[in-house]
Amino acid sequence: MAVAYPDAASPYRKHAAAVRRLAVRGKELPMKRSGGVIALVTGAAGFLGSFLVDALLARGYRVIGVDDLSTGSLENVTDAWSTGRFIFRSSDVSASLEEIDGVDVVFHFASPSGREDCARLAAETLRVNTRGTELCCDLALRNRARLVYASAAAVYDVPLPSRPSSWYAEAKRCGEAIVNAYANGSGLDARIVRIFNTYGPRTRPESGSIVPSFIEQALRHEPFTVFGTGMQTRSLAYAGDTIDTVVRFSELRSPAYDVVNVGSNREVTVLQVARLVAEFAGVPWDVRFAPARPDDAYRRRPDLHRVEEMFDSLPQTWLERGLRRTIAWYRDVRGSRDPSRAEAGII
Ligand SMILES: NC(=O)c1ccc[n+]([C@@H]2O[C@H](COP(=O)([O-])OP(=O)(O)OC[C@H]3O[C@@H](n4cnc5c(N)ncnc54)[C@H](O)[C@@H]3O)[C@@H](O)[C@H]2O)c1
Repeated sequence: MAVAYPDAASPYRKHAAAVRRLAVRGKELPMKRSGGVIALVTGAAGFLGSFLVDALLARGYRVIGVDDLSTGSLENVTDAWSTGRFIFRSSDVSASLEEIDGVDVVFHFASPSGREDCARLAAETLRVNTRGTELCCDLALRNRARLVYASAAAVYDVPLPSRPSSWYAEAKRCGEAIVNAYANGSGLDARIVRIFNTYGPRTRPESGSIVPSFIEQALRHEPFTVFGTGMQTRSLAYAGDTIDTVVRFSELRSPAYDVVNVGSNREVTVLQVARLVAEFAGVPWDVRFAPARPDDAYRRRPDLHRVEEMFDSLPQTWLERGLRRTIAWYRDVRGSRDPSRAEAGII
């Protein structure tokens, strides 16, 4: 694929100098092209992929985004277009990446991730993490580029065949095995990030993830659906924080193969999350308890000591602040999509 950037030259040059200065300090990716670092981001129009695109552009990268829009939206990359350093290709990563060339780093983030999305798109989830991962590894090898694979906390789950969350876990375990095989067998420069529950603007309520589901129920003035007792815990990281760590990890010069957990280790119960959402959305506290789901993790808290050792400090947006921001985004989006409400000034 010919890499063409609208209005590439002027805005880019400004950032390239800064990227080069960082490279001298030994923290940056080696640059093969005089223009600076070129990243391929699969899943660029998704929740985390679009945060990643924005973060890379802010650091002076040029970015090629690929997405089949199965769970993503072009609205998520509207800011990226305006930089003149972003191009987008709408296609299935599991089908082919042959036409793409000239990249320094490949971030493989394409994959459904919410519970409902993975259940609805089971075969696609397996394919994009297996065949899609293989194609990303081949592309990275061809380009002598670095590969960063978005794995998930689910790889730590006990396998429970034929349950939706298990398809996802198996897909991620397979994806990791493929990356490991390329790193050990072919010398691929590869990193794996095991991402823990992350929330923020641009998530979709239909995905089935806890924060978007609660916010959607709050904004519809419906009771919160809590499975089981609600005393099971989650450790929720804000998207900007997760992506900041991913990018910093991706830029480290060594080692050539590494795996880290990324997320927040501040644990809260599901009931506490619902309470906070109710408070910040300004709705009454109302819960509908449903039977516990057998494959629901009772406790999820990442061990972050590896990334804590790597970096002096890790960003940590307080849950209260992150939730307020996310609720505000949901209100904005709803307001802008519903002309009658927008006209009436209701959001
Ligand atoms: N959000 C989280 O809390 C979380 C936690 C752990 C891991 N992850 C991982 O991070 C990555 C991004 O997750 P997300 O939450 O942003 O999900 P998302 O559904 O918002 O984004 C995934 C994107 O990938 C695209 N996509 C899916 N299959 C594709 C294919 N075959 N070809 C091209 N594009 C395809 C979708 O259209 C979507 O834009 C995933 O790999 C996910 O497993 C996310």
